[in-house]
Amino acid sequence: MARRLIVVSNRGPLSYGRDPSGARVARRGGGGLATALRGLLRRDDVTWIASAMTDEDRAVAAEAGGASFAEEGRDGSSFRLRLLAHPPAAYAGFYDTVANGALWFLQHYLWGLASEPELGADFHAAWRDGYERVNETFADAVLAELDDDAAVCFHDYHLYLAPAFVRAARPGALLTHFVHIPWPDAEYWHALPEAYRSAVHRGLLANDVVGFHTERWRDNFVEACRELVGADVADDGTTVRFEDREVRAVAHPISIDVEEFEALRDDAAVLEEERAILARRPEYLVVRVDRTDPSKNIIRGFRAFELLLEEHPELRGRVVMLALLDPSRQTLRAYEDYLERASAEAQRVNERFAADGWQPVDLHVRDNFPQTVAAYKQFDVLLVNAIYDGMNLVAKEGAFVNTRDGLVVLSENAGAHAELAEWVVSANPFDLEDQAEGLYRALTMPAEERRRRSSAAAAYVREHDIDAWVDAQLDEIARLSGASRAV
Ligand code: G6P
Repeated sequence: MARRLIVVSNRGPLSYGRDPSGARVARRGGGGLATALRGLLRRDDVTWIASAMTDEDRAVAAEAGGASFAEEGRDGSSFRLRLLAHPPAAYAGFYDTVANGALWFLQHYLWGLASEPELGADFHAAWRDGYERVNETFADAVLAELDDDAAVCFHDYHLYLAPAFVRAARPGALLTHFVHIPWPDAEYWHALPEAYRSAVHRGLLANDVVGFHTERWRDNFVEACRELVGADVADDGTTVRFEDREVRAVAHPISIDVEEFEALRDDAAVLEEERAILARRPEYLVVRVDRTDPSKNIIRGFRAFELLLEEHPELRGRVVMLALLDPSRQTLRAYEDYLERASAEAQRVNERFAADGWQPVDLHVRDNFPQTVAAYKQFDVLLVNAIYDGMNLVAKEGAFVNTRDGLVVLSENAGAHAELAEWVVSANPFDLEDQAEGLYRALTMPAEERRRRSSAAAAYVREHDIDAWVDAQLDEIARLSGASRAV
């Protein structure tokens, strides 16, 4: 019998707001994780536990008296949602200071250790009164929902501590955790004090299964468990023994909902955006689509594009980089600064090269999903040059949706590179010359080779879509359910 799934993530599959007439509306949650996980809603019996992130979310949570309530996904699938309205100060410590301000930076190797991090009293308070408290609240909500038939699926770096709280209360519970971002090597974890890095690894080892998008991140995790908390690793390199329990570390690459993107190709709003792109379309169109996140390497991307124009004057006037940036985490100073610097960089490149009505960079800073899909259809080259990235679904979405035999120039440090390497043009995200050369190679590759690569990449994504990833999660749970377990 299929188990009931309790999905637990900080950002839920939808969040609430008000439309101009004052009516309550539910909007799709942003970011790749929430998008991809919506695929889960079509399955079985799902209760989703997430943080209330908007004022309207908090109102909805209050109306439900903190309990779960019935909701409907966009495709009509029904599920239950439980929204947790955390005290604002605790949530700021949890989300801004620890999860996004520290763990995100650490796990994407974004700290320049000569000056960062500086972990003062504020950080320690945020860990104790924010990260720990909010994780405990998530664990309490899980315990309130948990029964013998349920399996719990935690997601991401916000919730590393919650599984240990649940395990302590219900030793027989079936717990899985999926980490959607890179796992850095054990040495880099030393940038976090011993108590915290050990709590992170112990928290994850309270699960039965811990999943990653690639073997690279999975292997780093296993090694870090050995080095940082003294876990034993079996000969298979993936079974970790810790405190009399066995934990399987697995690699299952996440993907996209190909049916959704197929339908979006002909969506009215997408077609309208596509007409706007076509009206201004240069001979060569380079596209980038990103949240405004330092890990996405937007500034070096503009510099690499500048280098391309410098080294290939014949391309001036003929190529445009359409940069679609979705503002992200603007409550964090580092993110606010990054967006400012990225915008200034685009402007600098424009000022340097603009001529005769041509501007090299066409920058849009807002969340406009139809425009993103239209740009996916129209690119000749999609630049995905992330510094590090757990997967990067933009690369898969673009490769699947494109209609022009477009190529992806893809960072060798994006998880997607492990799957798509054969068909993309690989680039080192720190090497401007390599990225500029990659853009040039991709733009000038013979038509037949472009077609071969782009159709092979699209076929791969079609074959390995979100359903394959969801199936892999459910298979892991089914496997564990074989053993009798008392909750
Ligand atoms: C990444 C993370 C997700 C996160 C998303 C958006 O995809 O893996 O956990 O939800 O970014 O970030 P946000 O802070 O807006 O939820």
